[in-house]
Amino acid sequence: MSKNGSISNSVIKRLPRYYRFLGELKKQGVERISSRELSQRMKLTASQIRQDLNCFGGFGQQGYGYHVDELRDEIGKILGVDREFGTILIGAGNLGRAIARHINFDTRGCKLIGIFDVDDQLVGRQVGDLQIRHTDDIPEFCAENHPLAAVLCIPKEATQKIADTLVVMGIKAFWNFSHYDLSIGYDDIIVENVHLGDSLLTLTYGLNVLTSGDGEEDDDYVEE
Ligand code: NAI
Repeated sequence: MSKNGSISNSVIKRLPRYYRFLGELKKQGVERISSRELSQRMKLTASQIRQDLNCFGGFGQQGYGYHVDELRDEIGKILGVDREFGTILIGAGNLGRAIARHINFDTRGCKLIGIFDVDDQLVGRQVGDLQIRHTDDIPEFCAENHPLAAVLCIPKEATQKIADTLVVMGIKAFWNFSHYDLSIGYDDIIVENVHLGDSLLTLTYGLNVLTSGDGEEDDDYVEE
């Protein structure tokens, strides 16, 4: 197992957010930042930040804080943003096309190399640089291009079957939007289930706390 293999999931989940914040600081021309300042901007405690970053050997220096560019590069390496994992997208409907157009895969270690759908009306249509292909072409495409990741933007009912097929074709990771819990049954496959509605519910919870008459704040609620 790699040296990052034993890091807790909650720390791993925070890394993209550190990476994004540090990228914004870099754009603003900030060269270094203390854990206190970073904590204020990120709404995490300074000790949480120190603890998180210590998991990777601690990038900060006493009295200096963190070097923004270096820390961002290190976190980027841990995340693997410099890699080019071949990625295919299944389901070129409204969501699939929006993701293909608006998510920058290249800066996140993945390269979108194919888009597939069952609908003949969609096959041949251009989405960004790619032409939608028929799902019948998936086996040949995978044999030739060896993608490792798949984005699933298909109806719930179709998800298990297509995932099973894709695992046989060598897919190791699913970015799954289909509202079907794919983690069941695959021990060696990485699944990131995305539910935008859950994020909205977190907002609702925040609003609920904010507007719940007694005026007392919930100390456990930390904006992530
Ligand atoms: P849509 O109906 O516009 O697109 C679905 C596409 O999947 C269609 O083009 C259809 O031809 C294709 N498809 C169906 N079965 C397929 C198969 N076996 N192989 C390949 N392609 C297949 O729907 P939309 O709005 O794009 O949503 C897609 C899915 O994402 C739905 O399940 C929806 O519930 C879910 N969704 C999830 C969100 C989330 O936060 N996780 C947010 C929005 C939608």
